[in-house]
Formats: sequence, structure tokens, C-alpha cells
Amino acid sequence: MIITSAQFVMSNSDITKCPTDNKAEYAFIGRSNVGKSSLINMLTNHKGLAKISSKPGKTQLVNHFLINKEWYVVDLPGYGFAKVAKNTKQRFSKLIFSFIESRPNLVNLFVLVDCRHEPQGKDVDFMEWLGVNGVPFSIIFTKADKLAKQKLSDNIKAYEKELLNTWEEMPPYFISSASNGQGREEILSYIEETN
Ligand code: GTP
Ligand code: MG
Repeated sequence: MIITSAQFVMSNSDITKCPTDNKAEYAFIGRSNVGKSSLINMLTNHKGLAKISSKPGKTQLVNHFLINKEWYVVDLPGYGFAKVAKNTKQRFSKLIFSFIESRPNLVNLFVLVDCRHEPQGKDVDFMEWLGVNGVPFSIIFTKADKLAKQKLSDNIKAYEKELLNTWEEMPPYFISSASNGQGREEILSYIEETN
């Protein structure tokens, strides 16, 4: 897919104020600092579209970006970062769950996990919740530039093994790097096929 335009539309802390124009939405979710905002900039080829930071907890609101004037990318706050204050964590998770539960045009949720880490309970539990609630999702292993090929492949196999404890098959997954553009074509093609 060729990205011809990517525009910031709005940021919300109140889900009822999110766009109501019935366009397809693809949202990016995952632990704080996993690289959601960076990936959005890489996919849309717009540096600075979504705000990024080396400090976790940068994205605090639900952010809608209109792509090719046709569909939305949604950047969400991160979940599960220990250093974020408890009430902030609760606010983020309330916002995330109310977003997921109230958006009829949410076509797919991309759940991002850092490819360097072992499967984390928070992510695995979250995916389980998505499954139980019938929310379509796929996984993106981020920051692939930080690992050698063999280690990356070992880590993904370990992830697969963990998920196959509860899932009959592995959900669709992608490997990405916001630094070198890995995964861009695959993710955009997936969006095009499902849009
Ligand atoms: P929150 O908004 O806080 O939840 O974080 P986020 O998931 O949006 O992460 P963000 O995109 O802000 O990136 C966090 C840090 O990771 C930044 O310092 C990025 O430069 C870095 N980063 C993100 N993606 C990659 C990647 O693919 N490779 C490398 N090497 N660094 C990355
Ligand atoms: Mg962010």
C-alpha cells in the first residue's frame, strides 16, 4: 500500500469524543516503551506524526491519525509499566479497555511486544482477554534491529510455544524495526487486505 497522506486528527481522554465517521480503525497497543508511536511513524513514513520518547508513558491519550483520507491509525497509551504511578496506570487501562469495547469499526488491534523479552504475563493475559472477547488482533515483535537473527528466531519460537499453551494456533504475527523499516510492507499489506 502506498501512503499518500497521514494527518493527526484528534487526541482524546474521553472515548465518546473519538471520530464517529465510520472509517476502519487499526489500533496499536502494548507495554509502555515497546515502540507503538515509533512504528506508526515508520509505517506512515511521517517522522514526528506520533510523539515518541525514550521515557515510558509518553502517549497518554487515544490519538487518531487519518491515513490516505480513508482509514484511521490509532495510537494508544501503553500498559503495564512499573514506574508509572498507580492511578495513571488505572486511567490508561480504563481508557484502553473502553476504547476496545466501544469501537465498532476497530478492524484489528496490533499488540506490540519487544522481541528481546521473554513472554510477559501482562501481554499473554491481555491476548487471552482479547480472544475471550472476540477482538481481532495480531502480534508485532518490535525492535528487531536490536537482536541478531538467530536470537530473534529463538525468541519468537519461545513466544509461540508459550501462546500455544492457550491458543490452538499462533495469531498472525509480524517482525518490525522502526529503525530500519523492517516489516513495513508486510504490515501495510495486511492492513490493505483486511480494510
Ligand atoms: P509509550 O507511548 O510511552 O507507551 O511508548 P511507545 O510504545 O509509544 O514507544 P515509543 O515509540 O515512544 O518508543 C520508545 C523508545 O524506543 C524510543 O526511545 C524509541 O526511539 C525506541 N524505539 C522504538 N522502536 C524502535 C525500534 O524499532 N528500534 C530501536 N532500536 N528503537 C526503537
Ligand atoms: Mg507512544
